[in-house]
Amino acid sequence: MDRAGLLPLLSAERIAARVGELGATIDADFPDAGRPLWLVGALKGAAFFLADLARAIRRDVRLDFVRASSYGASTESSGTVRLLLDLSADVAGCDVILAEDIVDSGRTANALVRLLQSRNAASVTIAALLDKPSRRVEPVEIRYRGFEIEDRFVVGYGLDAAESYRNLPGVWTLGA
Ligand code: IMP
Ligand code: MG
Repeated sequence: MDRAGLLPLLSAERIAARVGELGATIDADFPDAGRPLWLVGALKGAAFFLADLARAIRRDVRLDFVRASSYGASTESSGTVRLLLDLSADVAGCDVILAEDIVDSGRTANALVRLLQSRNAASVTIAALLDKPSRRVEPVEIRYRGFEIEDRFVVGYGLDAAESYRNLPGVWTLGA
């Protein structure tokens, strides 16, 4: 893969360490004796985060996926969120953590939280690997945050630019 123009932002090692901390926090917040816990990944960007976070959680955790469209091939949000893939699980009465790659405007995360709440989850919280608060259009409560980053377009560890770079280890800044 051509890495020209990419600047390293977060190493794979730093991400792994932080994801381990998030997993321990989630274990402390959701004791195993309680309700079933679902980790719902927002495809495709959260695929690696979900896989690593799930393995950093020691208690039993169930996995499912949703997919919403936000950006097409462009790097600007369209402003509308479309559901492309719905949950397959019944999460009624369960604790649900939505795993997101990045919260930018906040529209996607909020739309997916509303969807999960509409399915009568007992609780819905957000785990986001990355948070770009300077870009926020809607307020979002992120319970489990990996890293706060500046307003730069980033790729790697699941994050894409026009579908490329998702498989890069670590997170990189694209462009100047
Ligand atoms: P939001 O709805 O504006 O918060 O956008 C969230 C989605 O936009 C994320 O799940 C990503 O798919 C995408 N996105 C936002 N910022 C970036 C970025 O810096 N790199 C890659 N994708 C991004
Ligand atoms: Mg994307």
